[in-house]
Amino acid sequence: MVDFFCGAGGFSLGFKQLGFDIVYAVDNWNPAVETYRLNNPNTKVERADAIVLAPERIPEADVVIGGPPCTEFSGSKLGGGGNIQKGMALVYRFFHFVQRLRPRWWVMENVPRLLHSLPPALPLKNLGICQEGLFDIPKVAVLNAADFGVPQKRARVFLGKYPDPVRSHSEKGVTELDGTTYESWIPMRRALDAFPSPLGRPEQGRLVRDPLYDLDVDEGELRDHFGRECVLTEEDAMKNRRQKMEHPYYGKMRFPDDVDRPARTVMATQIKPSREMMVIQESVDGSTLFRRPTVRECATLQGYPIDYAFVGGSLSTRYRLVGNSVPVGLSRAIAAAIMQEALSSVGV
Ligand SMILES: C[S@@+](CC[C@H](N)C(=O)[O-])C[C@H]1O[C@@H](n2cnc3c(N)ncnc32)[C@H](O)[C@@H]1O
Repeated sequence: MVDFFCGAGGFSLGFKQLGFDIVYAVDNWNPAVETYRLNNPNTKVERADAIVLAPERIPEADVVIGGPPCTEFSGSKLGGGGNIQKGMALVYRFFHFVQRLRPRWWVMENVPRLLHSLPPALPLKNLGICQEGLFDIPKVAVLNAADFGVPQKRARVFLGKYPDPVRSHSEKGVTELDGTTYESWIPMRRALDAFPSPLGRPEQGRLVRDPLYDLDVDEGELRDHFGRECVLTEEDAMKNRRQKMEHPYYGKMRFPDDVDRPARTVMATQIKPSREMMVIQESVDGSTLFRRPTVRECATLQGYPIDYAFVGGSLSTRYRLVGNSVPVGLSRAIAAAIMQEALSSVGV
């Protein structure tokens, strides 16, 4: 399997958990490459610009996945500096790799807004391939991570050639007429309650139980959680409350966030107050404060196990690595569907 624009490795991880062998991954951003390498020591990971990367360098693979950067298509950028052409160049480059490598399955993740920029037919010539014909995209599906057991509502489009992943959760949790049962969406609280307060001191010998995996980590070993950086100043909290509750033309949003629902989409930027920023309320010594979820809490909201390491000098780099990721539970569901199809094609 090959992962283009591998980032911190969320998309890969779902496949790896099911036993897929990831032979090659590429990204052009140092923190992503270092994070991916650290967590995937058996994968060849290259730091390279996908635009100039020669397809001949890439090993053969049955599965090709990739999440080209989506910032250029995101809603907030469209009013301002979003460069759709630049974003499309990377999407087309991914299609170019798919056409050249001809994997049996391929999956590309992006924001649903990408679909506004995608032409109904895509001549191979537009992908830099000197051949007549059109590029084939057999499936386009918008999937919500919450439907796959991730404690976050995150709708993303998945284009490619892959079987439908099986949903395990629904908003209320129901049993359909055909007997299919769905569990209720996992609330944000389930993820947050697993962690000690980031404002306390880590206690060596006390264990943190991963809310999503059969895994314990000593508090003293828990990374990216403890410290006061997550606390909002009073001024930032007030500003954020106004942005969410008194905006002149956008609708009202909850302040602080409702922890009894799945988290809102975990964004790559969490530092500056914005409507997208998640804010939770915490009581400390009888007084109330507002804070953002820690990098570790955001990682759990993205479905990473609590021992996954993120390499990045600054706090904003680590929030970005996490916020950019494909939620692991969702990628695992896609991987499971592909695995199932592979096994049934050989009669298992
Ligand atoms: C949305 S993130 C991918 C996240 C990843 N799929 C995951 O699940 O963790 C997009 C990645 O594309 C990388 N990127 C942006 N431009 C690139 C380029 N020209 N060549 C290679 N990688 C690039 C960014 O550094 C970023 O890590």
